[in-house]
Amino acid sequence: MDDGLFQKARAVRDHAHAPYSRFHVGTAIRTEAGSVHAGANVENASYPEGWCAETSAIAAMIAAGGAGEARRIAEVVVVADRIDGRLTTPCGGCRQRLAEFSQADTPVHVMDPSGAGRTYRMDELLPAAFAMDETP
Ligand code: THU
Repeated sequence: MDDGLFQKARAVRDHAHAPYSRFHVGTAIRTEAGSVHAGANVENASYPEGWCAETSAIAAMIAAGGAGEARRIAEVVVVADRIDGRLTTPCGGCRQRLAEFSQADTPVHVMDPSGAGRTYRMDELLPAAFAMDETP
């Protein structure tokens, strides 16, 4: 894994707006074009209106513009604390959102803030993913 990508994910985690869960998450995406986009979770007093760090990072990638490789995910790092020793893996909705811009073998690194963790393939996190013919 690219250590710079891990550092970005860990740094953006400090910007999370998570006053309700107090669970801060940071995500960094490297695209096939080499650009890096990061995001943190953004909670809301109306709890279901909050969203995850992975979603923020995808939104940053799309907002940055570009086409083709600039919006194809080459690698993802998610950084969060462990819960009872378990690493934080992306939620179901974020797996679908990441899959939209990934390939079956796209690595998703799930790390704690010390840099320890493990790597999943996208198709391990979301087997039998839903996709439309139009999905690039
Ligand atoms: N969260 C993320 O941002 N990413 C994940 O992969 C798991 C959960 C957020 C959502 C919520 O703000 C907080 O963590 C607690 O669930």
